[in-house]
Amino acid sequence: MQIVILKNSAEVAEYGANIFIKQLQEKANSVLGLATGSTPVALYQKLIEATQAGAISFKDVTTFNLDEYLGLAGTHPQSYRYFMNEQLFDHVDIDKSHTHVPPGDAADPVAACEGYEQQISDAGGIDIQLLGIGRNGHIGFNEPSSGLMSRTRVKTLTKATIDDNARFFAADEYQPHLSITMGIGTILDAKKVVLLATGENKADAILATVEGALTASCPASALQLHRDAVLVIDEAAASKLSDCEFYKHIENENQKLQAQLAKL
Ligand code: GLP
Repeated sequence: MQIVILKNSAEVAEYGANIFIKQLQEKANSVLGLATGSTPVALYQKLIEATQAGAISFKDVTTFNLDEYLGLAGTHPQSYRYFMNEQLFDHVDIDKSHTHVPPGDAADPVAACEGYEQQISDAGGIDIQLLGIGRNGHIGFNEPSSGLMSRTRVKTLTKATIDDNARFFAADEYQPHLSITMGIGTILDAKKVVLLATGENKADAILATVEGALTASCPASALQLHRDAVLVIDEAAASKLSDCEFYKHIENENQKLQAQLAKL
């Protein structure tokens, strides 16, 4: 894993956005895996700005989101489809028919999960997958105990996740406790994975992801198996890592190598 430790959330958003901007400049018809939650919002804002400045275009882009609440239609303000429209799709030149979020209102959720896998495969697979991380180490809605080879399926949310996400729902509003999520195996199939984490409340999850054992108890630890996973985190999220100086040293060496290669 490449571990990039930056000062604050603004730097994390900028670094993460630059990876996506480069990807779209190199491959205009990229297949992007996208994420919800508060962490990627600033990155999406940067992508909107880059689109409006003419540096990138979403015209030929296809997207697949990680997950959706089961029981919410895409028109529901708390649905992840609604979130994606508001935070990104409505502000860039994307063809909405090329954007995919698991259907939270599917009559047959099991068939919908199989269909989602098929759509990803028909699109040629995901070039680059964006991830946030839950406090318990979940990625997408793959909660602890999720199979490390799992595919898109219905998952039950933990109480911790329901409590963490309660802030988005009104007190008397129905909050789903089930989801449809890409599996860990689906995520690992992406050619590149970029995980963003900011803030001290993610420090335990980042510690388990980077320095803990590969285990279903911390779903994000599965990224240890990925060939091209980048963790872009701020100092607060990195605060429990024992080897921070070493990771920063590697990143410095990495930058020097990239600069040398750029001259060739
Ligand atoms: C939800 C999403 C995850 C996301 C997590 C963290 O549970 N399903 O994909 O990573 O929230 O969200 P936040 O970035 O708000 O901390």
